[in-house]
Amino acid sequence: MSVTAKDFDEKARGEFARFGTTRVRRGELLRHPVYTRFLHWSVAIFFILSLLTGFAIYSPWLFHWIAPLFGGGPRTRLLHPWFGLVFTVFFFFQFLNWFAPMAWTEADRRWTKRLRQYATNEEGPELEDVGFFNGGQKLYFWTIVVSAILFLITGVLMWFDDVVGRWIVAVSYVIHDLAALVMLAGFIIHVYEGTAHQPGTFRSMIDGTVTEDWARTHHPAWFRTATDSRKEAEKAQE
Ligand code: HEM
Repeated sequence: MSVTAKDFDEKARGEFARFGTTRVRRGELLRHPVYTRFLHWSVAIFFILSLLTGFAIYSPWLFHWIAPLFGGGPRTRLLHPWFGLVFTVFFFFQFLNWFAPMAWTEADRRWTKRLRQYATNEEGPELEDVGFFNGGQKLYFWTIVVSAILFLITGVLMWFDDVVGRWIVAVSYVIHDLAALVMLAGFIIHVYEGTAHQPGTFRSMIDGTVTEDWARTHHPAWFRTATDSRKEAEKAQE
C-alpha cells in the first residue's frame, strides 16, 4: 500500500472521530472506530439496494413485489447501476481502510485447514495465532474485492450496451450474475457469523467495542497485542 493511501486513511479516521464517539468501558476493547462503522454500513446499505433492484431486474415475475418499492420497473432498472456504483465507491474506501489487517498470513492458512470443523460446528478453541481478522473473514473480504471489480467492469459494459459488441454484453451478464450469486452466499454466511453464530460480534459494528472475553475467545493474538499496548500506554502515564 502506498504511503499516500495510508496517510489518506489515517486522516479520514481522524476527521470522522469528530462526528461520533466510541466509548470504551472497563473490560472492553476498541474494535471498529467511527470511520470503519460509517464505511461498513454505507457498503451494506448500497449492497442491499443493489441486490434488491438486481433481483427485480433478474426475475420480474418472481420478485414482482420489489419494483413498486423503487417506483416501478423502469425506475428500478435506472437506479440499479447507480446503487452498484455507489456500493463500489464506498467499498473502495473500505478496501483502503482494511487493506493492511486483511493481508494473508501463515496463520490464516492454518485457520482455513479447520474450515470443515467450523462449518460443522466441531471446532475447538480458536487457534492462538488468530489476529484482528481470521482466515474466513479475510476470504470474505477478498471475495468482495474480486466481485466488486467484476461487477464494475461487467456492469459498465452492460450499461453502455449500444457501444460494445453483443457477445461482450452476453458474457458480461453471465459473469455479473455469477458474481452476484457468490456475493449473496457470502452475505448470508457473513450475517449469520456476525450475529447469531458469534454473540458479542454485532455490537462491534454498532458502538465499536467488544468485551475482552470476546476478543480472547475469537481473536487471541489481537487480544494480546491490544491489551499489551494498553498496558504500555498506562505505564507511560504513571
Ligand atoms: C446487513 C447485515 C450485516 C451485518 C449484520 C454485518 C455485521 C458485521 C459485523 C458485526 C462485522 C464485524 C466483525 C468483526 O469485527 O469481527 C462485520 C465486518 C465486515 N462486514 Fe459486515 N455486516 C452486514 C453486511 C455487510 C455487507 C453487505 C458487506 C459487504 C458486501 C459486509 C462486509 C463486511 C466485511 C468485509 C467485514 C470484515 C470481515 C468480516 O468480519 O467478515 N457486511 N460485519
